[in-house]
Amino acid sequence: MSMTTESGTFVAPAVRQTGILIGDEWRPAVSGKTFSTINPATEEVICQVAEGDKADVDLAAHAARSAFESGPWSRMDARDRGRLMHKLADLMEANLDELAALETLDNGKPIGDAKAADLPLAIDCIRYYAGWADKITGDTIPVRGDYFCYTRREPVGVCGQIIPWNFPILMTAWKWGPALATGNTIVMKPAEQTPLTCLRLGELALEAGFPPGVINIVPGYGPTAGAAIVKHGLVDKVAFTGSVETGQQIMADAALTLKRITLELGGKSPNIVFADADLDAAIAGAEFGLFFNQGQCCCAGSRLFVEDSIHEEFVERIVDRARQRVLGNPFDAETTQGPQVDKDQFDKILGYIESGNSEGAKCETGGHRHGNRGFFIEPTIFTGVTDEMKISREEIFGPVLSVLKFSSVEEVVKRANNTTFGLAAAVWTSDVKKAHQVSNSLRAGTVWVNCYDVFDAAAPFGGFKMSGIGRECGEAGLMNYTELKTVTMNIG
Ligand code: NAI
Ligand code: MG
Repeated sequence: MSMTTESGTFVAPAVRQTGILIGDEWRPAVSGKTFSTINPATEEVICQVAEGDKADVDLAAHAARSAFESGPWSRMDARDRGRLMHKLADLMEANLDELAALETLDNGKPIGDAKAADLPLAIDCIRYYAGWADKITGDTIPVRGDYFCYTRREPVGVCGQIIPWNFPILMTAWKWGPALATGNTIVMKPAEQTPLTCLRLGELALEAGFPPGVINIVPGYGPTAGAAIVKHGLVDKVAFTGSVETGQQIMADAALTLKRITLELGGKSPNIVFADADLDAAIAGAEFGLFFNQGQCCCAGSRLFVEDSIHEEFVERIVDRARQRVLGNPFDAETTQGPQVDKDQFDKILGYIESGNSEGAKCETGGHRHGNRGFFIEPTIFTGVTDEMKISREEIFGPVLSVLKFSSVEEVVKRANNTTFGLAAAVWTSDVKKAHQVSNSLRAGTVWVNCYDVFDAAAPFGGFKMSGIGRECGEAGLMNYTELKTVTMNIG
């Protein structure tokens, strides 16, 4: 399907799926309710989507349970699971233009980003984990006595997966990849703001030949559908990406049934630029690290620490770059910044900008809504930001950069770590020793050196402190989807 007009502008694809996926059947909600999903660039309703609730989650959990315990999935050879996953990745690749356009329609991200980042990363993730399916092994353990002792890595069971709206298709892949490779079944809830690509992936999974009940999808709201997944007795594990507050609620709710939980939450990531850095690269990295995806990244480099001797030049140059960002129709290939995902986020971000101004930071550029239709916000940069200001402590999740000045390694490490978060950090320097010393001292799950936002399905990602529990991607992400069984056999 072509998504391009003669003028080269991408056009929105038709929405094919708006139902709830239970087993291999697409259904309306038990309640009959639907909710609207909105195009954030125009504020227009795209379509109605079935609004799943407790009753739908219950059906999905039963379907997932029976697929886990008695369906063909539970008897399938590991290598064949891998083949199905490769088939899904092939179908995603074959439908890349359509999926990217659907993501842009529902989320507002520039089509160029969806095509160059979200889709390739999602496909790569499914392929990476497909390769793991038949390579998950246990150990033999030299215990005392005449016993043969070994371990097996078994699937956890039914996995509830709840994702946010900032990278809908990529988050779906990060959740499905390790769960499927290890033989689990899934009850998935996409974010209410962006359900469309996840639903389309559900269709592609059925087309690939996943047995009924392996993947179930219940679109709906958090406190209803989401909470029902977390509390359901047939669900063994919950994997969540989103806000700290909801992560805390999920942890409390999961305690009732002692579910395994992995949480990937927010951040206030420090991006540290030393005077000896390659400045061109650091400026480009600081821009990308914050403004990519409209600033809606859990790992956004939202606290930019710049060494005092280069502060003035750095600010001048990054302000210049911010002003060159192209805001507009996300289907336009020239656009580099789309709208924020919804009115709530838009209002929240404008509130933070107001707080930056009232707490005495200096707004060097931006600071306002862009245009009068769609949830666009100008790229905004504050200088003179101190560690105590709200804009340097709380996650803004928008195109708002705070620049902080520092003068020594010890000082900047201390200040960078002075946060309840610990998701990511970056260091820019040409001094190898300094790069190692600082990256070892930062309390964060990911440290980028002379780069930012470099993601790979093979590299673990997750948070220290209140940024989360557990890791996604890589072998570490896989292990979170297994239970370890020890078998001890009397051979004496
Ligand atoms: P949220 O954490 O409330 O929503 C994320 C997902 O959790 C959605 O699917 C939602 O329906 C679900 N959910 C909400 N309440 C739930 C509950 N009680 N039980 C189970 N599931 C529940 O995030 P929201 O409200 O969309 O955004 C608020 C803030 O969170 C943002 O401004 C941003 O600061 C942060 N955020 C962080 C993300 C990250 O990648 N770490 C992603 C999205 C938001
Ligand atoms: Mg919320």
